[in-house]
Amino acid sequence: MRGITAAVSSATIAAALAMSGCSIKNDNPDLIAGKQMFVAKCGSCHVLGRAGTKGAVGPNLDEAFRRAKIDGLGQDTIRGVVKKQIEFPSMKGLAGTGIMPANLVNDEQAQNVAAYVAQVAAAGGKDQGLLAVAVKSAASNKPAVAKGGILSIPADPTGQLAFVNSTAQAPAGPITIEMPNTSGVPHDIAIKGLGQGPVVPKGTSSFKADLKPGTYTYFCSVDGHLAAGMKGTLTVK
Ligand code: HEC
Repeated sequence: MRGITAAVSSATIAAALAMSGCSIKNDNPDLIAGKQMFVAKCGSCHVLGRAGTKGAVGPNLDEAFRRAKIDGLGQDTIRGVVKKQIEFPSMKGLAGTGIMPANLVNDEQAQNVAAYVAQVAAAGGKDQGLLAVAVKSAASNKPAVAKGGILSIPADPTGQLAFVNSTAQAPAGPITIEMPNTSGVPHDIAIKGLGQGPVVPKGTSSFKADLKPGTYTYFCSVDGHLAAGMKGTLTVK
């Protein structure tokens, strides 16, 4: 059986090689759009160092393509593999888990995403120039502060596995804790022993709690998101 950390299979690569160049290649891919789209649509399930994504549902894409790059497979081949995977993710019971949805992005976006992944996978280092700032960090160094009985802690709108605020403050007493989520990546907000909102891909997850003074950890309970760092510290006074 093939684990999700397995490297890209040689069958996948052979299939991509067999495809005609023009069907998988766009000579002017937009790497900036590709990076933004990768973070928004792929990063919640895949680690890709240059994109700063930490998803652990699918294979780590740096590891997946390291061997291919060492073996001298060019970026065009890797682009083909990624493009094909976006169109035809492996189906449950055949080669894979059936977890990755098909056609998460349209054809043009897939060209851009594939070109970006091919360029940066296993490359190490950091993106440079415009690519370095393609995905604006939504992280705030300010705490989220409760107002009018509501403590609102948004999910990172870019799709990264994080809350915008990694600290929060609220007074003791009854409160609604909410997490507005515009990212499209399913998230919830939870505090052990206090409550948990529903998982929402878009919308607001919230729950009511009666806070006592102390410190609490809020986190997203979707598999792998806490491990990727989607958490923060709430101080109640
Ligand atoms: C919901 C989780 C999820 C999302 C979102 C997702 N993937 Fe995947 N991906 C997986 C899983 C799981 C696999 C393992 C093979 C399988 O089961 O299909 C996989 C496999 C892959 C592979 C093959 C790697 C290998 O080692 O064979 C590539 C390339 C890939 N994904 C790229 C992408 C790209 C690009 C996107 C965004 C357009 C994306 N994935 C979005 C879960 C996801």
